[in-house]
Amino acid sequence: MQISIIKEEDTNEQRVASIPETVKLLARLGAEILVEKGAGDLSGYRDDDYKLAGAKITDRLECLKADICLCVRIFSREDIRKMKSGAILIGILNPYENKDHFDDLNDNKITSCCMELIPRISRAQSMDVLSSQANLAGYKAVIDAAEKFSKAFPMMMTAAGRVNPAKVMVLGVGVAGLQAIATAKRLGAVVSATDVRSTTKEQVESLGAKFIMVEDEESKKAETSGGYAKEMSDEYKKKQSMLISETLSKQDIVICTALVPGKKAPILVTQDMVETMVKGSVIVDLAVESGGNCPLSKTGEVVNHNGVLILGYANVPGRVAKDASALYAKNIVNFLSIMIDKEEKKINIDWDDEIIKSVILSHQGNIKLEKFK
Ligand code: NAI
Repeated sequence: MQISIIKEEDTNEQRVASIPETVKLLARLGAEILVEKGAGDLSGYRDDDYKLAGAKITDRLECLKADICLCVRIFSREDIRKMKSGAILIGILNPYENKDHFDDLNDNKITSCCMELIPRISRAQSMDVLSSQANLAGYKAVIDAAEKFSKAFPMMMTAAGRVNPAKVMVLGVGVAGLQAIATAKRLGAVVSATDVRSTTKEQVESLGAKFIMVEDEESKKAETSGGYAKEMSDEYKKKQSMLISETLSKQDIVICTALVPGKKAPILVTQDMVETMVKGSVIVDLAVESGGNCPLSKTGEVVNHNGVLILGYANVPGRVAKDASALYAKNIVNFLSIMIDKEEKKINIDWDDEIIKSVILSHQGNIKLEKFK
């Protein structure tokens, strides 16, 4: 059994699907490991380190012919056609955006696994790429804001006078939001946060930040049974908008992370609100790739609106590529360990397993996931 690590095609994707340490773990599953030459270059892992870990460094074609191909993002349709028929492809395949790849996956009988669809159940926590990557994104958002902010974060008492602490507001308190709060607190900022899910109050307060939210009848039912936010009514949005606009003009930094699964990101920071902010303030819109929490943000750009900077960096986990790759690689090893019979050292998929049923997009020429049929 051969497992290969494919070099990312997109140069904006700095992460890699396996690092030297996880290559050793993959080998323990009974596989020969192939690494495409230069696969780890952008994330700081050298070919020599993979070689020392026991991998064979080779060209793309040989890697595409492995039994299991690991990637971060799905690669070209042409390369999917070059894969070994019946092989397994594992990555963040984004089937919503990549429907044009379905024919190639089916024609070549590829078993494709979407790591972003790992269910949020306790047993799958160690495979949860959305969490591992969002955590780093939340951290990096605050670091990016600090880098663009021309003032300090912590309060400083000096002989020349006092420097006031930065005021940071975090919108959306999921995995990314919680890490943003923790990072801003560590840097010494005064932090507040809001969410539509009242269960986040305790988490925010336990990090030493102030929690604000619109509390009404609707907010009591804002969370789905899976723990996600629901899309709120126009009436709720109006109340929330008033609450945010009152607070926003006093903030130096705003970190936007609010998302509703399967929907466009909610607009929380309008142009009018941005115009009430002090010159030099910084907004980081982590939701930009889902439409943005601020309509002024642009994917991959830093927008200067009347002196307020709006950062719309894409693929923020990729900006912390070394750690993001390490966590992603570990998520994949944990996932693969349920697909491989360690004694027989061969692939053995349990089709009744809830995790398998959630992530396998295509198999034997058919699309398996109902919502993509
Ligand atoms: P997410 O990335 O889907 O959304 C980010 C945050 O935005 C959420 O907290 C959401 O409530 C909030 N939001 C949505 N609309 C909003 C609005 N209009 N205003 C303000 N905030 C808004 O969230 P993530 O990080 O995926 O977490 C979602 C849930 O999944 C949480 O309950 C989390 O605890 C849970 N979770 C469970 C895991 C597991 O069991 N393995 C792993 C990670 C998260």
